[in-house]
Amino acid sequence: MNPPLTDKFEQRFGAPPAFHVRAPGRVNLIGEHTDYNEGFVLPMAMDRAIHIILRPRADSRVRLHSLDYGETAEFDAAAPRRGGSKWVEYIQGIAWAMQKDGLPLRGWEGLITGDIPRGAGLSSSAALEIAAGLAFAAAADLTPAPAKLAELGRQAENEWVGVRCGIMDQMACAASKEDHALLLDCRTLAYEHIPLPAGVAVAVLDTSTRRGLIDSAYNERRASCELAARTLGVRALRDVDEAGFGSRAAALDEVTRRRARHVISENGRVLHAVEALRRRDAAALGRLLDASHASLRDDFEVSSEALNSIVEIARRQPGCYGARMTGAGFGGCAVALVEQGAAQAFARATARRYHQESGLEASIYITRACAGASLARLTI
Ligand code: GLA
Repeated sequence: MNPPLTDKFEQRFGAPPAFHVRAPGRVNLIGEHTDYNEGFVLPMAMDRAIHIILRPRADSRVRLHSLDYGETAEFDAAAPRRGGSKWVEYIQGIAWAMQKDGLPLRGWEGLITGDIPRGAGLSSSAALEIAAGLAFAAAADLTPAPAKLAELGRQAENEWVGVRCGIMDQMACAASKEDHALLLDCRTLAYEHIPLPAGVAVAVLDTSTRRGLIDSAYNERRASCELAARTLGVRALRDVDEAGFGSRAAALDEVTRRRARHVISENGRVLHAVEALRRRDAAALGRLLDASHASLRDDFEVSSEALNSIVEIARRQPGCYGARMTGAGFGGCAVALVEQGAAQAFARATARRYHQESGLEASIYITRACAGASLARLTI
């Protein structure tokens, strides 16, 4: 553990920390807006994370300091209340979800910091939920399974924070494996770790655009998918395949039909992407990323000018296999698959060209697939 961080902890709380929790952000390779349709996703955890160092308390009070916000918060884990800063809401939300689940809660004092860009579609919120869940688990000596932790995080976000997200981000954060993508069935939460091919780099292309009102647009897309499923007489769009959709699509109005077509075709693309990965066929995987982007742009309509522009620029660079927007959309990041040897030149050229075309500064970084969230005991 980083000594300056443990020193800061001791200065603030007067005793050394006992645990270190790390919860990574994620990049979704493919399978966008399929999770809440009970379909398939293929994300990976990335090398940016939220860290909490903490020390359990004998009572149920939680005392926290965020180094990134320069803010301190305190609440009773046994009686969380709404209000206060957004970052604290996620932590109170986890306490609420754990309590609702009948899990024992103990308080802790903690220092929080992280390097996942916020609002960029890289799941900094899910990472905060999972980090807080593990902090509560450490304090009460619990060892929840990754899917349990993810479920608690999703409940906190859905019911406490009020965002109707699916389960992908929390599962990617909790259950990923180094050098692998996570194939997740969002209906059963069954998952499999799929090795990523050697020699292929994953580049995160942050457009530096962030869009407000994203939650209402997201909820509206969700409602369209639910309407489509109801009209087609299925539990979720997961239950319709492309052949079945062809014969029944006429029952839907034009917009709902396009929304459903995205979800149904995207589920198919995730499964094809897994086959491509098993064959180590980066070119085929890249083409699936390109097709996913087109479907998100034209059918699901969650892309943006900045995302379209950076994706097109990325694809023109030597060594790029394919690129697409990643996460909920409307702004934030795209992901590109690039030949390892070309990755640095790719990053420089894409950023330069994006600046020339849009006037905006992109942040482009080559990431790698990391292990999911972890808890370590500190020996000081
Ligand atoms: C956000 C949500 C996820 C998922 C994606 C879109 O990241 O939190 O649950 O729906 O958007 O794929």
